[in-house]
Amino acid sequence: MHCPATYTCPMRVLAIETSCDETGVAIVEANGDETPRLVAQALHSQVEMHSAYGGVVPELASRDHIRRVLPLARAVLSESGASLASLDAIGYTRGPGLAGALLVGAGVACSLAAAIGRPAFGVHHLEGHLLSPFLSADPPRFPFVALLVSGGHTQLLKVANVGHYSLLGDTIDDAAGEAFDKSAKLLGLGYPGGPALARLAEFGDASVFKLPRPLSQRDSLDFSFAGLKTAVRTHALRLEGSNCEQPRADLAASTQEAIVDVLVRKSMAALERTGLKRLVVAGGVGANALLRSRLEVECKKRQARVHYPELALCTDNGAMIALAAAMRMQRGIAQMSTDYSFDVLPRWPLTALTEPAAAR
Ligand code: KG4
Ligand code: ZN
Repeated sequence: MHCPATYTCPMRVLAIETSCDETGVAIVEANGDETPRLVAQALHSQVEMHSAYGGVVPELASRDHIRRVLPLARAVLSESGASLASLDAIGYTRGPGLAGALLVGAGVACSLAAAIGRPAFGVHHLEGHLLSPFLSADPPRFPFVALLVSGGHTQLLKVANVGHYSLLGDTIDDAAGEAFDKSAKLLGLGYPGGPALARLAEFGDASVFKLPRPLSQRDSLDFSFAGLKTAVRTHALRLEGSNCEQPRADLAASTQEAIVDVLVRKSMAALERTGLKRLVVAGGVGANALLRSRLEVECKKRQARVHYPELALCTDNGAMIALAAAMRMQRGIAQMSTDYSFDVLPRWPLTALTEPAAAR
């Protein structure tokens, strides 16, 4: 399966992201071993479609990806001025994610690759998030500590290079994004809950409700947000029936404060433990303004730097998948499929990509 393909210079990679509720397609271009640059991208969010159901409906997600993916691919090709035949490889998100949704992107990517006789390449969705700050105006350098905070994952990792990941801490129950989403639901806010809760929190006083910060005192970099959710539920039930908005805003602010507090404390502990001075924050929760400002302050105190993806690339997109594919190809560590068979991995730990030497 491994293909020692030769690439034209610049190398152009188109990639497709369909792991959940965004259809993303993008093209990146790489010259030699320079960091690839984004040439064109297009994104369709299904948020409006799923919001009627209060969360993602997998079957609807797959069907919508089918409708959107080829028009988006045409749009990025036209924007970039590149022809399909001029591409060097096609990437797609292989996992983790919704099986049906992943299959759409994988199937289309392998068909396009077969049509032009170039290799196809399955990318790890979280590796895409992790590397996405390399497309920003202020890219990091290896090695760094990464705080990966998406809807389904909350992890701290030591990142030595592409494909060299050591897990420092993981969530033992809910992810940070899930804590935002579930708390938002309990407060009667829409989906996705993170941004909605953050908006309501702007009008609240975060000191009103005392919410738990599980595992925060222990010498562990693991996270737990289930207890917080239970506490939010208890308070939200008490507020039911009240037509006063202020306590809901206070509860939103207190919830956001608790989640951010835990994320910041553990990130600082990870920097201390590894001795590294660079932190990368990736995944949807990385768009949270309070998290960003707190990390900025705490990193400054420690003469450390914090790097983010551009705001538009915090949530799911095709650009990060194309970037991860290209960075792997540059290093000769891409497992390319040249027979166009494919599978998807709905559950796929990021550390499965890691070289054996990495230790916890
Ligand atoms: O990375 P992502 O787009 O999708 C996954 O791979 O899961 O992350 C989505 C998560 C959701 O839980 C959403 O509520 C959260 O990111 N999120 C936020 C914000 N924007 C998105 N959470 C807090 N504040 C935000 N501004
Ligand atoms: Zn994601």
